[in-house]
Amino acid sequence: MRLISGIQPSGNITLGNYLGAIKNFVKLQDREDITDFLVFVADMHAITVPQDKQALRQNIKSLVATYLACGLNPEKVHIFIQSEVPAHAQLGWILQCNGYIGELERMTQFKDKKEKQVAGVSVGLLTYPSLMAGDILLYDSDAVPVGQDQKQHLELTRTLAERFNNKYGDTFVVPEPFIAEAGAKVMSLTEPTKKMSKSDPNPKAYIALLDDINIVKKKIRSAVTDSDGKIAYDTVNKPGISNLLTILSCVTNTSIKDLVEKYKDSNYQQFKDDVANAVALELEPIQKRYNELINSPKLDEVLNEGRDYANYLANKKIAKVYNKVGLGRKTK
Ligand code: AMP
Ligand code: TRP
Repeated sequence: MRLISGIQPSGNITLGNYLGAIKNFVKLQDREDITDFLVFVADMHAITVPQDKQALRQNIKSLVATYLACGLNPEKVHIFIQSEVPAHAQLGWILQCNGYIGELERMTQFKDKKEKQVAGVSVGLLTYPSLMAGDILLYDSDAVPVGQDQKQHLELTRTLAERFNNKYGDTFVVPEPFIAEAGAKVMSLTEPTKKMSKSDPNPKAYIALLDDINIVKKKIRSAVTDSDGKIAYDTVNKPGISNLLTILSCVTNTSIKDLVEKYKDSNYQQFKDDVANAVALELEPIQKRYNELINSPKLDEVLNEGRDYANYLANKKIAKVYNKVGLGRKTK
């Protein structure tokens, strides 16, 4: 089974990205039934909204160091940068020509992000899911581990794959989403009915993996909860406490049910202290490894291997797709 996933290098990687995506990659890399695992930095996705050139370069490098610091093992996972594999853009274009504007306009993420653009909405922001579909279909990926917010994009990927297969003959594997139950949607600490997002203008809303540990603890201790005083899992009436339970459950590998039992007589302050300490314990070693890696030659080594492997697979596939569509001259 082949797996692929990516994250955009658009700023602070959050605890949401970690629990919803990266931590699952780390677990999955040891599974016997996974023969091939590719994880990339989605830099071409990042430029669908304005980016500062220097910051983008830095964020790309930082995400690679984060992948490794969180425990992705380059012996088991091929790590690469999307823009270093030109076939992503090539397939993205072909899929744009097989997708419909209406389909893309219906994407929730597009509708949300569109509202936030002050300098105009780029065409790329609309067609982004076709590029994402290209990322996945290029490798005949069987499954795609992502957080809940990407489910709709994966459904579109499946639609595009099926449409292409019907029109041009069997070409693509139709991929399955792979959404872990716990941690798939970590919520904002200040508005727990919204997802935790690295683009939130209020830094208290999210925990960045590289936040100073004391700040991490402070943010958790001041997370918005309710005044009911009882620790229970109820995402409708107690979204703040439920979110902290989810976080604690993920970082301690304990079920929410067991946590609710454990904290049934505790007050919010004790509970928050425990969540703060548990998250700190998880992040400290990651930060230490990150600092060791960020300026080491290891990053280039890993990225060179990843780039070569990904190009090898992607170029074979794109040649097949060109032939199916009738582009250029026939190649063998
Ligand atoms: P992005 O930051 O949008 O590139 O997302 C990268 C990955 O992190 C995707 O798999 C998302 O589904 C996941 N992700 C982002 N935010 C959250 C969140 N708040 N909770 C869980 N997963 C998330
Ligand atoms: N769109 C994803 C996000 O914003 C990132 C992404 C791009 C991705 N291409 C992908 C995830 C392919 C999985 C597979 O989170």
